Amino acid sequence: MRIPKEIINEIKNKAPIQDIIGNFIQVIKKGNNYVAYCPFHDDNNPSLHISVDKQIFKCFSCPPENKSSGDVFSFVMKHKHLSYIEAVKLVAEMIGYKYDFGDTEANKFEETITHKIMKEAVNYCQYELNSKEGLLYKEYLNKRNIDNKTIEKFQIGYNPKDDKLYLFLSKKGYKDNDIISANLARLTNNGVRDVFFNRIMIPISDVSGNPIGFTARSIDPKVETKYINSTDTPIFKKSNVVFNLHRAKEKIRETKFVILAEGPMDVIAFDKIGFQNTVCSMGTNTTKNQLLTIKRFTNKILLAFDGDNAGQSAILKTGKDCLQEGFDVLVLNNDTKFDPDEIINKYGAKRLSDMILKPKTWIEFVIEYYKLSYDLDNYTAKREYTFKVLEEIKKVKNDFDKQNYIDRLAGLTGFNVAQLASGVVDGETKKDTPRILKPKSSLQSGIEIAQKIILKQLLFSANNINIYKNKLGYLPNKQFDDIAKMIINFYDQNQYIKFGELLAEIDDSQLISLICEIESDKTHCENEDERLLLDSIDKVKEYEIEIELEKLEARMNNYSDDNMKTKVAAEIVEFQRKLNELRKNRR
Ligand code: UTP
Ligand code: MN
Repeated sequence: MRIPKEIINEIKNKAPIQDIIGNFIQVIKKGNNYVAYCPFHDDNNPSLHISVDKQIFKCFSCPPENKSSGDVFSFVMKHKHLSYIEAVKLVAEMIGYKYDFGDTEANKFEETITHKIMKEAVNYCQYELNSKEGLLYKEYLNKRNIDNKTIEKFQIGYNPKDDKLYLFLSKKGYKDNDIISANLARLTNNGVRDVFFNRIMIPISDVSGNPIGFTARSIDPKVETKYINSTDTPIFKKSNVVFNLHRAKEKIRETKFVILAEGPMDVIAFDKIGFQNTVCSMGTNTTKNQLLTIKRFTNKILLAFDGDNAGQSAILKTGKDCLQEGFDVLVLNNDTKFDPDEIINKYGAKRLSDMILKPKTWIEFVIEYYKLSYDLDNYTAKREYTFKVLEEIKKVKNDFDKQNYIDRLAGLTGFNVAQLASGVVDGETKKDTPRILKPKSSLQSGIEIAQKIILKQLLFSANNINIYKNKLGYLPNKQFDDIAKMIINFYDQNQYIKFGELLAEIDDSQLISLICEIESDKTHCENEDERLLLDSIDKVKEYEIEIELEKLEARMNNYSDDNMKTKVAAEIVEFQRKLNELRKNRR
């Protein structure tokens, strides 16, 4: 499937490469441009350069066989292991660009029978919440300050007793097997029975907003399991789903951060007070998959779990996971033992929104969190505490912040962490084992360099394009030849060359990387240079003739027939003559 060129251009124009890359990894402003630690190799100092002008990126330390350069789409492709179309779609989604990609492969949504059943179930439960039997449940919600508008928004419903949901779905014509497979009913000794009876039903949707499961709360304090969730079904994988992401994604993009809460009731609480950029996993254990899904929309996460011990230790674990996935991590400044929903109800909305607006940084959280487990009046414990905190400080990328945290830790412990600090700031980041870089030029044969020079020269001017067309018109290496053709095509169509627009026309990631590599190469040629172009063209011709000669010589050795040998010999002489002429000219 092809996405029209204009659309791709438009998406690209609206998606500054520095912002998009900045959504995946931390970028650092340097002059007009940006640099970053390259995510494609183990980088000790920021070797990935982002050109704001050209809207391309390039890592200057990645080995040549792992080409790390290209435009915004190449970055996303490489970073997220996506196809070109998927990358375009993801970038479009990230910038909130509305376009119906229609039947592109990546966008195909097939409504399964399970999807249909889930939709019916959501509607039915919403209806039941407003029935006489549902009144008690609705009152429960209202008592928790969940008003009718919020109930509506979150499509909250009620699943009655006596297997009413199952009977409803059956009557609608759905087969037992399908209802059971959707995990809304199960087969028991007493026949097929509802899974979620006498519970408030909160639908869980996929990122596009299709309901795929439920989290269901009992309102009876005597019932042991407060919440039960759908088990995995053909369309619901609990460990992949992020609750409320389909509603929150726009706001996440807008606010450039996401709030991760523990449970749906907390998400609803945040939503009520204006933080609609809130999501949760079901329970405290957020999986790597869930984090990666969230990361499609932002790389800044604020962890807003409960204030109790379980919640705080979940923050420690989840925070570390988030850092590993490249998030900037902030923590809700929760000085209570309560969860966000309880905080609003006990202390009011302002208290909670203050906790969000003045969050703790990750290190501030860690400094306080570990204090609870180590007695700082005891030397050994304090020593252990210091190393625990330092371990996290090491991960801080910004040297200014790092220094400040070290100072804070020194003040707190009385230990001379400054010395350790030099180990952290200098030792770890700069003194690391040097990477062995293969010298680039020795890897590239002369002929490869000549072709790259030609391609780079083609990007400079119409004059160069004409020279190339007249004097050579092809390149021996297939990929280089493809690029040359694309450049010429682009020029023929537009009568100018604009690198960014040209890139948008190429949908082969390898070619994009290669052309970016060529464009940014300053070792072999920096400026427009007709003589260099002509010289490189001759080199290619020379090379071609040398290859021909080799072939002919091999053929000659294979022939026993003297007549044939003479013919081939004549050809060889002819090629040799051409070669000598070329060589003479070049001198
Ligand atoms: P909590 O016990 O903190 O519940 O569990 P909560 O979010 O405050 O819920 P309310 O306010 O009492 O209604 C945190 C999360 O752990 C999961 C749920 O997703 C819950 O939101 N959980 C909890 C279960 O899956 N099952 C349970 O029995 C309890
Ligand atoms: Mn709660």
